[in-house]
Amino acid sequence: MGDDQMKTRVRLRRLTEKNATKEYANWFKDKELRRWITHATPTVEACRDYIRKALADPNVLLWGIFVDRRHIGNIKAEFRIDQAVLGLLVGDPKMRGCGIGTAAIRQAARWCYRHWKVGRVTAGVHPFNIRSVRVFEKCGFRPLLVRLWLEKKR
Ligand SMILES: CC(C)(COP(=O)(O)OP(=O)(O)OC[C@H]1O[C@@H](n2cnc3c(N)ncnc32)[C@H](O)[C@@H]1OP(=O)(O)O)[C@@H](O)C(=O)NCCC(=O)NCCS
Repeated sequence: MGDDQMKTRVRLRRLTEKNATKEYANWFKDKELRRWITHATPTVEACRDYIRKALADPNVLLWGIFVDRRHIGNIKAEFRIDQAVLGLLVGDPKMRGCGIGTAAIRQAARWCYRHWKVGRVTAGVHPFNIRSVRVFEKCGFRPLLVRLWLEKKR
């Protein structure tokens, strides 16, 4: 399916506690997801808790990604000084690679510019996560120079 077709089918809606379902929790059984997502919520209770925390935080916006009204993934925006940081997942492996991530990132980034009036939108992506790097590039994101952390032990 082309990106244009997907654009009209993908809707972002702010998650509420009733979106914490068994299907959502089951996404975390997938190996690829567990590899790239640091914060897994593999039970309904953990999903509910995660949504509740996001709702209580004015600097966080957690949307569900809905395709034809079915909740198939999440995208989160965090407000930092003059920037928004995005993170996302498409939970159902069968739904990956068909333009959903592209549509979700574009909508979320537009929302951040418009409502938070940030100067830039960023995402922390593992360099080996090729699909994720690619999806952000498709949406116009460019790599930032990586900061090197140095330390000196006592
Ligand atoms: C990363 C993720 C959000 C992307 O969403 P998506 O709906 O799959 O992405 P899209 O289909 O919109 O775009 C993916 C692009 O990567 C390309 N791609 C997919 N697999 C690839 C691979 N192994 N190597 C290179 N490119 C790849 C696709 O072809 C597509 O680009 P194209 O349209 O130019 O062909 C989704 O795959 C996912 O949830 N993965 C697991 C969790 C994860 O990694 N989250 C991101 C953490 S930052």
